[in-house]
Amino acid sequence: MYIGGKYFTMQENISRQQFLSMSAAAGAAMLLGSLEGWAAEKQLTKLRVAIIGCGSVSNRYIPHLQTSALIQIVSLCDIKPERAIAQNKEYKVNAATYGNIDDMLKGVPFDMMVTLTDMQKHGILNKKALLAGKHVWSEKPMANTYAEGKALLELARSKGLKLWGAPAVVNSPQFAFMSKSIQAGKLGRIASAHGQYGHTGPTWSAFFYEKGGGSMPDLGVYNMATLTGLLGPAKSVMAMLSIVNPERTVDDKGKIKVEAEDNAHVLLEHANGVISHVMCGFNYFDPHGHEAKGQELHSIQIFGDKGNMRLIGYDWETNGVILDDSWERAGVLHEKETGGYQWQEGATKVGESIVNKTEPRINVEHALHVLEIIEAARKSSATGMKVKLTSSFQWPMI
Ligand SMILES: NC(=O)c1ccc[n+]([C@@H]2O[C@H](COP(=O)([O-])OP(=O)(O)OC[C@H]3O[C@@H](n4cnc5c(N)ncnc54)[C@H](O)[C@@H]3O)[C@@H](O)[C@H]2O)c1
Repeated sequence: MYIGGKYFTMQENISRQQFLSMSAAAGAAMLLGSLEGWAAEKQLTKLRVAIIGCGSVSNRYIPHLQTSALIQIVSLCDIKPERAIAQNKEYKVNAATYGNIDDMLKGVPFDMMVTLTDMQKHGILNKKALLAGKHVWSEKPMANTYAEGKALLELARSKGLKLWGAPAVVNSPQFAFMSKSIQAGKLGRIASAHGQYGHTGPTWSAFFYEKGGGSMPDLGVYNMATLTGLLGPAKSVMAMLSIVNPERTVDDKGKIKVEAEDNAHVLLEHANGVISHVMCGFNYFDPHGHEAKGQELHSIQIFGDKGNMRLIGYDWETNGVILDDSWERAGVLHEKETGGYQWQEGATKVGESIVNKTEPRINVEHALHVLEIIEAARKSSATGMKVKLTSSFQWPMI
């Protein structure tokens, strides 16, 4: 716990007097928190954000959140507390820093938690934040099972709180272009679509390969969000998953056993006979690497009987969309610019929507639907059966 400029570890001897003064400060902070929370409900001009998980992706989230005049990062937390302290310094955040969520919830008051930890911890941490009255933006997945995700959403609604899950792909101008083209009938009757995302896998943390990790919640999730966002909710799923590389060496744990799928092929059945396919994995050689700079792959392809579209690069960081809808002329490249969209913008955009009292395009029911797809794909692969889905979301999105 970081109090008054000093970080206290569990091992450190804290005197009884120090403990009492810390507890009193925490109690005062809690009271202040609820009063401030009430005031914030009345007139919120700046959203106070707490980030949990100060690893790799926090290097993209912190600077992006700092670009917003409507957001202030007030707390940073990591179970490796030196990481919270280091990011505080690196990005000149001037936040309070903590070594666990319970201390952070008792500490400096805030409005929204941004969850950037190991995937396996998202459900439990998001629940704690909601129970404490905080809005939540969660990196994917927003929960660790579909049932847990549904329960989190019910909890959020019962407390008048907002909950959202990454990714933010539906915010890109390329997604908007594709969605509008489909809705305008430019592709005629839609039949099939394909999405793919892979590289040779993260090297820094074991959780990507442990139970509850895997290439679907880390990578396929983007394509699943894009394809369902464009084609509508899926009714059923069939999948084959495998582990191609049973052992890995990663920075935090050395040699580990791979427990979650590192190769996945997922078939989605949408309405009106439309079928889409997602392929994702951690063993796909890609000279553009994890950052995917300059990626030219047509990673999303949509086919109708009057036209087709191919998205250039990945759906989370794309360089345009080719629309082919003529027998006479070659396909035309559209939407080459990002229009300011950045894949790490989700927390900033939903945070701003709270202050502005607007409804962002990113939709929690969509994230929940994708979570159900991932779980169904695992079940389908294990049983060899087609799995029916129950969830849905408001569609078309644009
Ligand atoms: N790295 C990327 O480029 C990237 C991009 C998009 C999304 N993501 C997603 O972001 C999340 C984090 O990925 P990462 O690459 O930053 O991982 P990471 O291992 O670099 O960072 C995770 C951090 O969370 C901390 N942590 C774990 N459990 C915690 C707990 N209970 N309380 C507080 N802190 C805790 C770890 O100590 C670590 O510092 C994952 O969901 C991942 O799928 C990562």
